[in-house]
Amino acid sequence: MCGIVGYIGCKPAKPILLDGLLKLEYRGYDSAGISTLEKDGISVIKNKGRVNSLNEIDEINRLEGHIGIAHTRWATHGKPSTKNSHPHLDNSKTFSVVHNGIIENYNDLKKFLISKGYTFLSETDTEVIPNLIHYYYNKLDCKKGEKFLKAVKKACDDLVGSYALEIISIDYPDRIIVTRKDSPLVIGTSTCENYISSDIPAILSYTKKFYLLNNNEYVEIFENKVNFYDKNLKNLKKETKSINWNATSADKDGFDDYMLKEIYEQPKSISETIGSRLKSSDSLVNFDDINFSKKYLSSLQKITIVACGTAMHAGLIGKTLIENLCNIPVEVDIASEFRYRNPIINDKTLAIFITQSGETADTIAALKLAKSKGSKTLAISNVVGSSITREADITIYTHAGPEIAVASTKAYTAQVTLISLLSIYFAEILDSANYELIKELKEDILNLPNKIKKVLDNTEIIKQLANTVYKEKDMFFLGRGLDYSVSLEGSLKLKEISYIHSEAYAAGELKHGSIALIENGITVIAIITNPLLVEKSISNIQEVITRGAKTMIITNQKLDKKNYDYILEIPDINPLLSPILSVIPLQLFAYYITKAKGLDVDKPRNLAKSVTVE
Ligand code: AGP
Repeated sequence: MCGIVGYIGCKPAKPILLDGLLKLEYRGYDSAGISTLEKDGISVIKNKGRVNSLNEIDEINRLEGHIGIAHTRWATHGKPSTKNSHPHLDNSKTFSVVHNGIIENYNDLKKFLISKGYTFLSETDTEVIPNLIHYYYNKLDCKKGEKFLKAVKKACDDLVGSYALEIISIDYPDRIIVTRKDSPLVIGTSTCENYISSDIPAILSYTKKFYLLNNNEYVEIFENKVNFYDKNLKNLKKETKSINWNATSADKDGFDDYMLKEIYEQPKSISETIGSRLKSSDSLVNFDDINFSKKYLSSLQKITIVACGTAMHAGLIGKTLIENLCNIPVEVDIASEFRYRNPIINDKTLAIFITQSGETADTIAALKLAKSKGSKTLAISNVVGSSITREADITIYTHAGPEIAVASTKAYTAQVTLISLLSIYFAEILDSANYELIKELKEDILNLPNKIKKVLDNTEIIKQLANTVYKEKDMFFLGRGLDYSVSLEGSLKLKEISYIHSEAYAAGELKHGSIALIENGITVIAIITNPLLVEKSISNIQEVITRGAKTMIITNQKLDKKNYDYILEIPDINPLLSPILSVIPLQLFAYYITKAKGLDVDKPRNLAKSVTVE
C-alpha cells in the first residue's frame, strides 16, 4: 500500500508534492519519487528510502513545473530500489504514472507489450500501465483533445486488480488524468489549483473542499476546472464535500509522536463519535443512517462481526455487548479466515464489518462474500468515502478524526463506543434488556470523556514500569471475559511497536499449559474490572506470582495493593464498557516502552496503516 499525491495550479508543484508525501509516509516509506512537467519535458526524480532522501538529488532543485505527481512506496512487486520506485514512464517518455494498488495480471500484459516491442526497466507491476497507455494512444484515431483520456480508459479496461492512478503527459501540459478502482483517491479543490491524494489529511492544509471518487470513474484535472466521467466516459456532475477536520489534526499538536497525540485525543474522539446519537440517559439511542425494524432484528438468527487486527479486537467487545443486551448470538471472525472458511450465513444474518481505514482488502472482500450470501452488511469505518463505505448496505462512522500512527488507538475506543451505542439501539428496538441497565450504560457512555481524562491524568506509574522493563524479551497479558479481550489488544499494541514478544491469555486458561512459560522476573500485566470475576482473577494472578512473575494490575476493583508490584486504578464503570478505559494504560505502556527503546513509534517496521493487499 502506497501514498500518492498530485498538484496542478498556479504555484510550483514540487514543495506541495513533497509536503503531501511526508504526510503519506505512514502508508509506505521504502522509496519515493516525484514527476513534474517542465519546459523541456517530463522530469522524474526518484530514490530508494524516505521522502526526504529526494532532496539529496541535485536535479530536484531545478523543478519549477506547476503540474506534478508523486509517490511514496510500500513495495509489493519488486523490492525497494530506485528503479522500482515510482513514477514510471513509458518507453517514449510521453506518459508518467504513479500507482497505489496491485495489477494482478501484469505478467500477461507485460508479455503482450514485449511482443509489441516495449521494454521494461523495473520489476514492478505498475510499469505496464504507462506502456499500455502509449500502446493505445498510438492506435486511437480520434480528436487530440480526447485521445489521452481514451487511451487511459482503454488501458484500464485491461487491468485486473486495484489501482489509484495519476498520469501526466508531455503532449498535454495542461492536465492530470486520475482514476481509481479499489484503492483510495480524493481530489481537493480551490481557486486556480487542484490537489490529488490517497487521503484527505495529506492535503487538508490546502483546502477543505473535496471531490470523492467512485470506482471506475475518470477525471481530467485542469488548473481551473475538473471534468468527471463515468466508466463509459460519459460526463458526470459531482458536488464537493466539505471536510471539517482542521489541518492541525493532521499535525502533531506539540506531541512527540502521532500515537501519543491520538491517545490523548480520545476524550474528544469519543464525544464526537457519540455526537447526536445519544443526547441524555433518558433519550433513546438514535442512528440517522440505520432504520432497523423490530421485525428485522427479531428475525435475525445471528450477527457476525468481521475485521482485522485492532478492529477485530473491538468486535470481540461487540460480541459480549450484543449478546448480553440483545440476546442474539454473535460470531467474531478474522476477515482473512472468514473469507475461506465457507461461513454459514444468509439473509437471517446481519454482517458487521469494522475497519478504521475502510481500505483493508480482507475486510472488504469478506463483506462482498457476506453480501453474495444474502446477508445485510453494515460497515463501521472512520474514513468518509473509503472503499468499504461504497460496498456496504449501511455505513456508520466513528468520528475519531484522522488516525496517522500505524498503531491504532483512538479508532479502537471509538469503535467500541460506537458498537456499545449500536447494541443499546438494537436492545431498545427489541426491548430485550433491563431498563435500569440500559440507563446506567447510557450514563456511563456520556461520562466516558471525563473518565478517560482521569485515566490520562494518572499515567506516571505506567511510565515508571515501562522504563523498568523495556529491555525484557517476553511479557504476558491476562484477563477474564472482556478483560481478556482487552489484554489481546494490549498485547498487539506492545508487539507491533516495541517488537517485544508478548502473549495475552484468558487467565483461567493459563494453567492448561502456558503457565510453563512463567519464570522469575517475567512481567505479567493483568486487567480486573468485572466484580463477578475478581476472586477468580486474583487466584489466577497468584499462580504467576508464586512462580516469580512481576505483576502490574489495571483495575477499578478494591484489591490488596501489597500483593502486587504495580497497581493502576481506573475509574468505576459498568464492566460492559470497561475496555474503553482499561485499554488506555495498555496503549501508553506500549508507547513508553517503545520510546525507551528509541524506536520509531509512528512507523513501526514491517507494518503499514491499512493493508490494502490480501
Ligand atoms: C493496529 O494497530 C494495526 N494497525 C492493524 O492491526 C489494524 O488494526 C488492522 O490492519 C485493521 O485496519 P483497519 O481497521 O483500517 O481495517
